[in-house]
Amino acid sequence: MPITTCVFDAYGTLFDVAAAAREAAAEPGREAFAEVWMKLANDWRLKQLQYTWLRAVTGDHTDFWEVTQNGLDWALEANGLDDPDLRERLLQLYWELSAYPEVPSMLAALKNAGLNTAILSNGSPDMLDGAVQSAQVGDVLDDVLSVESVGVFKPHASVYDLVGARFGCAKGEVLFVSSNGWDAAAAAGYGFATAWVNRAGEPVDRLPWKPDHVLSDLTSIPDLAGRL
Ligand code: LAC
Repeated sequence: MPITTCVFDAYGTLFDVAAAAREAAAEPGREAFAEVWMKLANDWRLKQLQYTWLRAVTGDHTDFWEVTQNGLDWALEANGLDDPDLRERLLQLYWELSAYPEVPSMLAALKNAGLNTAILSNGSPDMLDGAVQSAQVGDVLDDVLSVESVGVFKPHASVYDLVGARFGCAKGEVLFVSSNGWDAAAAAGYGFATAWVNRAGEPVDRLPWKPDHVLSDLTSIPDLAGRL
């Protein structure tokens, strides 16, 4: 079935989640943080995601900004960083993450080819608005869909249902793109065509479903969408 709609995960897929810690580490006076920023960024991301899954399975939802702060607080303590100023700076930078360099031209190519484009993210509407504005990609996105409209995090099927509800398309017309192996796998299980953007060369997740395509960055998405 031809692809009519390309849908992207946000954090880690379009927006570089490590950028907040990387940029803070490069600032003057943060030499101690510069030693551990990579571990902090990794711990932060892992805890943030674990909290989304735990909140989804227990039905105790809160928004992504809350779990982002909860994950950061765990990671700061785990790395011996008791530094309120650093905490504030990291959260501020998370609000204005940079997009990966190929993102604007890739989205523009999809729009030129007449496809629908959207974000489908755990992010709260305000967070996503901040990221889209700072990356200046609002004009090449038809919509930004947040889990907040269904009150549960990915990979709950009601999140993926938002795409068909918004664009009136069949599951098989959707190419879903995520850098999160678990998100790409779950979306494949749901029935979307899927591309996993595996920038770090990680192993494929051992789950019942596998992504259809594995890419090293987003450059070839317009070609892939045109070929399917
Ligand atoms: C998102 C997270 C999972 O944007 O990266 O939904």
